[in-house]
Amino acid sequence: MAIKKVLVTRKIPKNGIDLLRDAGFEVTLWEKEFPMEPEELITSAKEHHALLCSSWDKLDARFFREASHLDIVSQFAVGYDNISISEATKHHIAVANAPGVLSNATADIAFGLMIAVSRNMFQNHKIIGSDKWKHNDLTANLGIELNDKTVGIFGLGQIGHLMAKKCVGAYNMKVIYHNRSRNVQAERELGAKYVEFGELLSQSDVISVHSNLSPETANTFDKRAFGQMRSQAIFINTARGPIHNEKDLIVALEDGTIWGAGLDVTDPEPMNADNPLLGMPNVCVLPHIGSATVTARLGMSEVAARNILQFYGEMPVENLLNREVMS
Ligand code: DGY
Repeated sequence: MAIKKVLVTRKIPKNGIDLLRDAGFEVTLWEKEFPMEPEELITSAKEHHALLCSSWDKLDARFFREASHLDIVSQFAVGYDNISISEATKHHIAVANAPGVLSNATADIAFGLMIAVSRNMFQNHKIIGSDKWKHNDLTANLGIELNDKTVGIFGLGQIGHLMAKKCVGAYNMKVIYHNRSRNVQAERELGAKYVEFGELLSQSDVISVHSNLSPETANTFDKRAFGQMRSQAIFINTARGPIHNEKDLIVALEDGTIWGAGLDVTDPEPMNADNPLLGMPNVCVLPHIGSATVTARLGMSEVAARNILQFYGEMPVENLLNREVMS
């Protein structure tokens, strides 16, 4: 096989890059802190056969038209809403992602946010830092207990399943879910119950979002949805920011329609420092760190590199998202 050139568009753990180099690939690394500009990405992609990219790279119709010679795009993430799969398929470019290896880390963040919001942890931490902790008011700062409550999972794939499992194990929570298809394993293991979206909203004490971002899921949690939730409900999103409507969420929190929110994802990212959510007592916001553990990021690097190795090794690409291109 002639030497293949791979462009890695973000700084990633070295293990995946070593795998590619050891297999004889020529690897170009983008070492800067910020992502490549779209023009820069197109220009550079033209000089490579394969791309190992991240969620910050917008691979749209124009990109695939300009870089139609590419063989494979391997995403360093499980989510791939930044990639137009149909356009890639049109140009016979394989697209693969890195699922599984980050599921536990991401479910941990959802679970952690749920607890932090239920007890106002972030805001209380800030209060001490701003020297406002003068005495203990025994009637203030009262949180919500999670024991025996109901968690509603929106999108019960691997990450949602792990979040549900943690909720059952730690707090004996009842699990209900809404998904494109039934998750028989979660129903069997956790007693999870499939419900229609309206029931998910009205019956959950905590709603945790784990679905993909797609035209069908964008803006799902809007004024109407928040209006159907319990006034004591906690809203958690560790999937993608555009699945909730931020303006509507702010109003729902301000007027007490819901009790609190924990977000690892926002729209846009990064969130502006003057965003009103950051000053609200029952809100915790994190800078998209769901997969930010040593184990998960090493796993993602390996899986993203292996997708490329499998493709050129003429092996089945385990995480291929557009199987049509291989026929
Ligand atoms: C993912 O893998 O989709 C994480 O959210 C990181 O972008």
